[in-house]
Amino acid sequence: MSESYFQKRKGDRGALSMSACDSGKAFAARIIENLNKNMNGERKDVRMRLTSSSEITFGNGEIKNEIHENIRGDDHYIVQCFDDPLSKKSINDNLLALLTHINAVYQSDADAITVVIPQYCYSRQERKKTREGITAKQIAQFIEVSGADRVITLDVHAEAIAGFFTRAKMEDLHASRTLLDHFKKNYDSSNLVITAPDVGGAEKARFYSKTMQTDLAIVDKARDYSKTSTIESMRLVGNVKDKNVLIPDDMISTGGTMVNAAKLLKDKGAKNIYITCSLPFFNGHAKDILYKAYEEKVISRVIGTDAVFHGAKFIEENKWYDEVSIAPLFAHVISHINAKRSVSELLK
Ligand code: R5P
Repeated sequence: MSESYFQKRKGDRGALSMSACDSGKAFAARIIENLNKNMNGERKDVRMRLTSSSEITFGNGEIKNEIHENIRGDDHYIVQCFDDPLSKKSINDNLLALLTHINAVYQSDADAITVVIPQYCYSRQERKKTREGITAKQIAQFIEVSGADRVITLDVHAEAIAGFFTRAKMEDLHASRTLLDHFKKNYDSSNLVITAPDVGGAEKARFYSKTMQTDLAIVDKARDYSKTSTIESMRLVGNVKDKNVLIPDDMISTGGTMVNAAKLLKDKGAKNIYITCSLPFFNGHAKDILYKAYEEKVISRVIGTDAVFHGAKFIEENKWYDEVSIAPLFAHVISHINAKRSVSELLK
């Protein structure tokens, strides 16, 4: 990139600066590493670093965030990863931490506030089925009312969530290209069928199959919403016999969807089954059931992104899991926004 993030003229956005809530610090460090790598030769002396801030949890559980540097007039980015496997903080603690952090940045008089949340929490509560709240919309409102102007997220579960913001803009990034490039470089992509793990995943699977020029299959999954994480029935539309299969999904939570889909595909004669997901949460017993499925040769590998960062030790110890970094894409988009360049090409 030829623009400097720091040398500003009239009409430019403010200088690019970034802070993070505690659970967002590891991902923010990787974004900054990539932003610094992207800087062109002329300003190698100027390195971006994380703005100093603190996150305190008081004895009664209340959270306070404070910014320790002058960010007045900046184009400021706040990074948070709600579901952080390396922390004891709950998603709800981390949500409050983000909201208080946004407000601290707002009170510090940044010109523009962008929230970088690769995991949009409560995204699966985006519509009403019975007497329930549309919590994904509440999250949008909380973020907006705290002072954010823009949200950057990753493969949000329901695209309609972008419309839940009244004033703030939402950029939804996709991990598909990063995951597919990694897959093509490191795994056998011959004789492949792309399979959606459920009807909701058909669009993503279609993109994969177009890009890879392969056939497409779909697992038709019906859930029993009266019981937690219970799948009622599954059937396959398409043919996977004697084929390698790649199943893409936006997230793995309990692992139930994936392992059940993989078992069905094995029964239908599939050979190696690879799984990619943007958000590898691995909640509850997911790690155990995925490990068991790997040991029993039901699945060959799960490939996830570092938008949910499990740490180097986890990757070393869990041969069934492979991680690819999505931080370069975030750095690219952030630098384009700051330089007022188009981002649409980067969102495909
Ligand atoms: C469902 O619509 C999503 O795309 C995921 O397939 C699902 O949320 C994964 O959840 P779990 O791993 O608990 O089955």
